Amino acid sequence: MVDLSVNLNGFKLKNPIITASGTYGYADEYDDFINVSELGAIVTKAISIEPKKGNSGERLFETYGGMINRIGLENVGIKEFISKKLPTLKDKNINFIMNLAGSSVEDYIKAAEVAQNAGIKAVEVNVSCPNVKQGCLEFGTNPNSLGHLTSEIRKIYKGFLIIKLTPNVADIESLAKSAESNGADCISAINTLKGLGVKIEITPDKNIKKTFVQGGLSGKCIKPVALSMVKRIKSSVQIPIIGIGGISTVDDVLEFLTVGADAIQIGTENFRHPDVTIKIKNELNNIIESLNLKSLDDLKRKLRNE
Ligand SMILES: Cc1cc2nc3c(=O)[nH]c(=O)nc-3n(C[C@H](O)[C@H](O)[C@H](O)COP(=O)(O)O)c2cc1C
Repeated sequence: MVDLSVNLNGFKLKNPIITASGTYGYADEYDDFINVSELGAIVTKAISIEPKKGNSGERLFETYGGMINRIGLENVGIKEFISKKLPTLKDKNINFIMNLAGSSVEDYIKAAEVAQNAGIKAVEVNVSCPNVKQGCLEFGTNPNSLGHLTSEIRKIYKGFLIIKLTPNVADIESLAKSAESNGADCISAINTLKGLGVKIEITPDKNIKKTFVQGGLSGKCIKPVALSMVKRIKSSVQIPIIGIGGISTVDDVLEFLTVGADAIQIGTENFRHPDVTIKIKNELNNIIESLNLKSLDDLKRKLRNE
């Protein structure tokens, strides 16, 4: 029997396969495809204090090896999450991480308080949201703002605290260090890259119709950026790292483990293959067995020549 379990600084997963926020709803959406409780964990869609309708107009744009989305953090809001979604996750015995979004430090603090009172074991803080009070800069682009946000959440929330970094920065190392030194238990990376989809169509009356979709790029095409970010984060912090970005095969998982990820999240690929997570989990098990190793930890050591 191969031991696929992971212990992320006290937060335990039965395997390293997690689904990424925004691509897995609140889990029941995937019931027809897989037994979700077999996953290491799922990350919920971003949850904000108030419900959000998200953006109007075109929200998705398919591009080479990926997609651009501008969903705009549509979500049911924290009250409905606690009253309606949380009982289902508990009934089905699904290990989950709550993804938090906000546009001011106060928003995040309120959400962290609710998470703490509801006994939620793990939260992932999405810091790619615009900080309205600081002129719409993202929290995740400035080490001081990120440090302040992390320490304020840490004062209230005692569970497993993951800070999810955005790749839209020059110096990811400083941001990771700031999250770690202000109390984060884990870093997850990366969120989507800023991208623009442009579609030009010639209409029957010989005019040109232009569509622009400015949003977050995800999927296979971002994997090299994500691998580079994870490797750089690994060289600057001691806390565990969850690697995210363009994972669609077990080979991708091996690459992320090699550069320093302790667990991984799969996002966009779920839309193409809703059972990809379980397939990868089984293949990972087989690879470990074929190498005559006993556990995921053994595999990580071998990949990293430790
Ligand atoms: C449609 C869509 C919605 C997303 N919504 C969120 C979100 O609410 N919160 C968040 O932290 N990340 C969100 N993300 C980012 C993903 O969780 C993930 O970080 C990113 O897509 C990279 O992984 P992938 O290439 O495997 O999709 C979203 C991504 C997509 C494609």
